Amino acid sequence: MSDRFPEAFLFGSASAAYQVEGAYKEDGKGDSIWDNWVRIEGKTYQGTNGDVATDHYHRFREDVRLMKEMGLKAYRFSISWTRILPEGRGRIEKKGLDFYHQLIDELLENEIEPVLTIYHWDLPQTLQDEYGGWESRRIIDDFTEYAKVLFEAFGKKVKYWIILNEPNIFTQLGYLLALHPPGKKDMNLYLKTYHHTALVHANVVKAYKEGGYEGLIGSSIAYTPGYAASSDEKDEEARRRYYDTVCWWIMDIFYKGEYPAWGYEEFTRRGIAPEVTDEDTLILKEAAKLSDFIGINYYQSAMLAHNPIDGIGLSDFNVSGEKGNFKESGVPGLYRQVYNPNVEYTDWDWAIDPDGLRVALVEISKRYEKPAFISENGIGAFDELEEEKVHDGYRTEYLKSHIMACHEAMKEGVDLLGYCTWSFTDLLSWLNGYQKRYGFVYIDFEDENLPRIKKDSFAFYEEVIRTQGNNCLREE
Ligand code: BG6
Repeated sequence: MSDRFPEAFLFGSASAAYQVEGAYKEDGKGDSIWDNWVRIEGKTYQGTNGDVATDHYHRFREDVRLMKEMGLKAYRFSISWTRILPEGRGRIEKKGLDFYHQLIDELLENEIEPVLTIYHWDLPQTLQDEYGGWESRRIIDDFTEYAKVLFEAFGKKVKYWIILNEPNIFTQLGYLLALHPPGKKDMNLYLKTYHHTALVHANVVKAYKEGGYEGLIGSSIAYTPGYAASSDEKDEEARRRYYDTVCWWIMDIFYKGEYPAWGYEEFTRRGIAPEVTDEDTLILKEAAKLSDFIGINYYQSAMLAHNPIDGIGLSDFNVSGEKGNFKESGVPGLYRQVYNPNVEYTDWDWAIDPDGLRVALVEISKRYEKPAFISENGIGAFDELEEEKVHDGYRTEYLKSHIMACHEAMKEGVDLLGYCTWSFTDLLSWLNGYQKRYGFVYIDFEDENLPRIKKDSFAFYEEVIRTQGNNCLREE
């Protein structure tokens, strides 16, 4: 491996429909669960919502112009299901398809590879109301039909498909922590809905392959590798349990087609293991083979310690940005996530650990023997706008160290297709409002014109792309 990234490596950036588009009632769009959740008092930071967001729906040409100026190789975005199928299934809204055709065409004309996410959390409200959305196996057929509509419409233009964004996060926050819709707290339901996401992934992969499309398909999992807090056997054991019930649990079912044996037995002992039929196993295993890549969203690592059976449970997390509010959290009898004194933390108490990305890539690539794609990586921060400038050196530093970690992993044999930062412009953070920023482009949300202002990190990433990563790898 040379001192640069391969020529075909996709240096990109990402977003999601609800977090950027706005226009939440326009052109026949139906309601998603997020359109309604944000209206319930106390559910989001200071009641923020995505009604307008960055107004990308009307201003995507301006945003793509900025991407072009930067030299971006790939733009990952998601489709809003209810723009295409306002009732979740059945009637197709042509205006929805038109919008995404225009966006994709604009990207292609500017030589930016579209990376399309089919689902980034905005489930049609109708499906939630009718059968509980992810709680029912009925979601499999409806989702697959929706995906087929997209394949049919965009299958010739789009070569990179991400079926689900972070199924482990939206099921956990929706069914275990009650922080996302539908706001439930039930370990049983969390494991059940997660199983349904794997079945959706499998059915959609199969449909794509049966359609004979020429592109690559996978799903993106939020992956948080873990270290033992000490060499004490009890902490080592906690780490193994974390892998069997979290890391390998979420990954294996998508990319091996089965759950890790220890984890499944443990959840069976606790009476909460999801039902896995023979039919499920068949299709899950088939799809695991057919999936072309593993999407990884990486933000942080975890430090793990022993947690006795009467130990601590799950806690909520910092959504205020007041640093120093890290709370231990865990599953009694399995593991406990503790503060890591060896790394820095963000203002939202997320551990900054570039080496964790290398660790994640290497262990995933060894276990599943598939190419990987970093579909999200970035730092959320309070950016200050001073005289039309944003000096976000911390972002440059964060990204640089993580890009170096990708390169290290590739030197260790990882087949990495691309790297998308989160995010291109600032956007809505689901639970943290507009004050937690991730973009290269600052958006002044106080100004109704939503002006776009390039931050210092914009020039840094422009240089990353121009030098094929070489500016991150050479010694200064
Ligand atoms: C990922 C999601 O979990 O992390 C994004 O895919 C999200 O949609 C990103 O915005 C950052 O999380 P947060 O909570 O800081 O906005």
